[in-house]
Amino acid sequence: MADKYAVIGNPVEHSLSPAIHAEFARATGQDIVYGKILAPLEGFRAAALKFRDEGGKGLNVTLPFKHEAWQLAGLRSGFALAAGAINTLTFRGGEIVGDNTDGIGLVRDLLRNLRVVLRGKRLLLMGAGGASYGVIEPLLREEPERMVVANRTVEKAIALVSHFEKFQQYAAQGLAASSYGDLRGMQFDVVINATSAGLADTMPALPPGVFAPGALAYDMVYAKRTPFMAFGDKQGARVSDGLGMLVEQAAESFFIWRGVYPETRAAMAMLRRRMPT
Ligand code: ATR
Repeated sequence: MADKYAVIGNPVEHSLSPAIHAEFARATGQDIVYGKILAPLEGFRAAALKFRDEGGKGLNVTLPFKHEAWQLAGLRSGFALAAGAINTLTFRGGEIVGDNTDGIGLVRDLLRNLRVVLRGKRLLLMGAGGASYGVIEPLLREEPERMVVANRTVEKAIALVSHFEKFQQYAAQGLAASSYGDLRGMQFDVVINATSAGLADTMPALPPGVFAPGALAYDMVYAKRTPFMAFGDKQGARVSDGLGMLVEQAAESFFIWRGVYPETRAAMAMLRRRMPT
């Protein structure tokens, strides 16, 4: 019988994960089935454990359950530990193992697909919610010259920076908090939008002039063109949505579960054909 996996969230009906994992399974010849689980807002734990008890091997966890998944995991990978959030659960023997592949997915998309250099560069990360916590550590591992985290509520950016400074290896790495206004006059090589503003067709109050020549404006949102993408375009930056991050984080989850690393180009092309942008 094929091993069972699923994505669990609320809402979950529009998740692209089943299509991505089906493509990975086809390409690698792995025999898996991958479904969707809509868990009640108060019922994540029960739904995840039921899936495991019925023989499920692993879950991708999406909003709003990434923190609850962190609590459910008995073992947490290095990246999941600092992120405080888990997007991949593996049921292995009696153990529940938690990983966070979002940050690796973003870094792989930047380095391999978009061929961006991060080492020694100036990074701006917008937002201080769960999406930002998930990607900071893998970004810092690439040793940028500096990384500024800007947020509308600046206290949350300060709290994020002090959270990561607790992890000694990152203490001296040029991580700083900022408001959007204070970015005036600064320039960055890579600007990443990890806020949810694009979903509401708006964008953070980013001052003009923050894009260095040849900079990348990257929005983690996919399936739509956000005001931030349009702004980056107008400011002369190269622009990308977050579809590549979605596919690359899925590939890392697939690897954790199956021990085989899928090629991601075919899945990307398949999704692009379905997308409006
Ligand atoms: P999650 O943890 O799921 O990422 P969140 O904690 O609500 O969700 O974080 C959403 C992020 O998007 C926050 O950084 C939020 O800024 P605030 O902390 O100031 O609320 C940011 N965000 C959402 N809408 C925004 C907008 N219109 N302009 C700027 N930032 C916005």
